[in-house]
Formats: sequence, structure tokens, C-alpha cells
Amino acid sequence: MRPGPHALPMVVASAPGKCILFGEHAVVYGQPAVAVAIDARVRVSIGDTDTGWSIDGMTFDKKRHPHIDSIRKRLWTVDGGEPLSLQVKSELFGSAGLGSSAAICSALAAGLLHRAGTDAGELPLSGIATTAHLAEAEAQGGRASPVDTSTVTLGGAVLVSNRKEAMANWQYTRDLRINGQRRTWEVHRIELPESLDDATLVIGFTGRPGPTGDMVAKVAKLLERQPERMQDIERIGNVTRAGVTALSLGSLDAIGIAMNECHRLLQGLGVSDADLDRMVEAALPSSHGAKLTGAGGGGCMMALTSEPRRTAEAIEIAGGRTLVSALGAPGVRIEND
Ligand code: PMV
Repeated sequence: MRPGPHALPMVVASAPGKCILFGEHAVVYGQPAVAVAIDARVRVSIGDTDTGWSIDGMTFDKKRHPHIDSIRKRLWTVDGGEPLSLQVKSELFGSAGLGSSAAICSALAAGLLHRAGTDAGELPLSGIATTAHLAEAEAQGGRASPVDTSTVTLGGAVLVSNRKEAMANWQYTRDLRINGQRRTWEVHRIELPESLDDATLVIGFTGRPGPTGDMVAKVAKLLERQPERMQDIERIGNVTRAGVTALSLGSLDAIGIAMNECHRLLQGLGVSDADLDRMVEAALPSSHGAKLTGAGGGGCMMALTSEPRRTAEAIEIAGGRTLVSALGAPGVRIEND
């Protein structure tokens, strides 16, 4: 730590993980998707250093952390500017589709802005979400939708669609120009009623990463071979819209029915697997609904329940590692203000 009058206090910023309630895969084809922020968070501490850039005590390697490199280039003077020491602590399962890299990007962006003088209460959320999305898109070769980065930044429940949707509160447009292509998404917040405070999500991790790129490519191939299956993508979009109404009304049973229907349609697209199906089946007797969440092919499932202990036990017996959360945690924030 650099002593003397220029030393700045360490900044700690955090952002939540996320899980997708409805609409994964269909969102790639312009349909709406809904994600909620979860209680498990990622914390990024940013401090002074006498040596070069470091992460968790090791010399920073931009090949290993391309998304972090993208954020620091956008928000910090890397060449000639003061180097920083970063520490990352995560409560999320890694590579599980719970948005841990988006949360790191968002928390780091917020922390750097705060260190540069932005008031903790005045963080520019759409700017942070944009910076985090560009970092993810660059690191993943342009494939990332803004679902993860928007949800972990805004917190609560977020709807992303290719058009402005009347059933949610529009926040901003995300525009991505990468590899000569332009894509646009409309990002909205969904107000969650207080009646949902009693509901719990139990997330079950298969222990295997969800290979997002492979799963997106698998669905693309299926649709190429069987273009009529685009109907299933549209059905997921309709179920998602029904799910948004159910969420806004706080109707647990209706949310659960929409989740179950999403899972059935995702199975039809070939993105579930035996572990996910077993965990979903195990959760159903004690839940309002259950489905895989994220890309599938590993990764996580989730159940909406009023009996979290019973549901978590059932999922664990079926082989999953569990994480229990309320719906709609707060978004990115500065922790040490
Ligand atoms: O595994 P996750 O949480 O990154 O989810 C991927 C969601 C997809 O709809 C399959 C892809 C995307 O970019 O939205």
C-alpha cells in the first residue's frame, strides 16, 4: 500500500449474481427474457499498490482476464496511470451460468468510477451496464446478450427484449456493434410486489459448467435443420410474457406454471440433460415450479418454493449443490462508503 498524502482508501464494490427465470435461448432470437438478481454477490476490492497491476496478489495477465482488461482500459488510464491492486471474492458457483463474470465487470466498473470521484449514490447504472456488456462481448467474441450485465447492475428483476415491452418499465437501449454487425436490445425493470418477499429460489448446480457458446450453437443447428422449430422459440417468448404478468401480480402458482412450461420447451430444444432433469423432478413436489436456468448442458437449475429447506434437500439428494436466495437482490453498489 502506498503511504503518504496520495494514498486513497481501498474501495470495495459488489454486484449480485443472477439467474434467468424465463426466456433463455429464445432471447438470442429476439424474444424477451427475464432474469432476477440473487443474494450471492461478488466483491471487488480496489487498492493502491507499489508494484504493477495485480489481481488476488498475482501479476495481472490480460490474456487470463480479458474482460477485466477491457474495463480498466475504458475507465482507467492504464498506460502511465497509477496501477491498482484488485481482489475478487465470490459467493457464486463459478462457470455455472450465475453471472459471475458480469458481476465482476459491473463491480469493477462501479469501483473504478467511485475511486475516480463519482459519488456512491450517483453511480451511472446504464453506463456501468454498457461498459460491462462491451467487456463481456469482447471477451466472448461478440455473442453476449446484455441479460447478465443489466441484471447484476440494476438488481431486482430485469426484462430484455428486442423491442420496448409495455408490461415493464423501460430503462435504456443497449446497442452492440461488433464484427461489423449491429444488435439492439431494450432493457426494462419489472417491479416485484411485496407478496414475493415470502418466496425463495433454490438454485441447484450440477457441478459442471454450462457451455453457453456450444448450447447456443446447438439450438442454431437445430433451427437450421428444422426451421419449423422456430415455433418453440416463439412459444418460449409467449410463456415469458405470461410469466412477466404472473411476476407483476405476485402469483406464485402462475410463475411456477410458466417456469415448468419453459423447462419443457427447453428440453424440446435439446439443451437440458439428465442431471438437470433429475434435479428439476426432485424439486417439483415441494415447489411452485422448476426449470434449468441459463444455457443448459450443465450449469444450474432453479426452483421457486415456499419450503426452501425441503426443496434444497431434494435437490441435494438428486446430486446438486444448492444456493438459496430471495428474488431480486440489490444491484451493483459501493460497500465501504
Ligand atoms: O448460461 P448463461 O446464464 O450465460 O445464459 C445464457 C443465456 C442464453 O440465452 C442461452 C444466451 C444469451 O446470450 O442470452
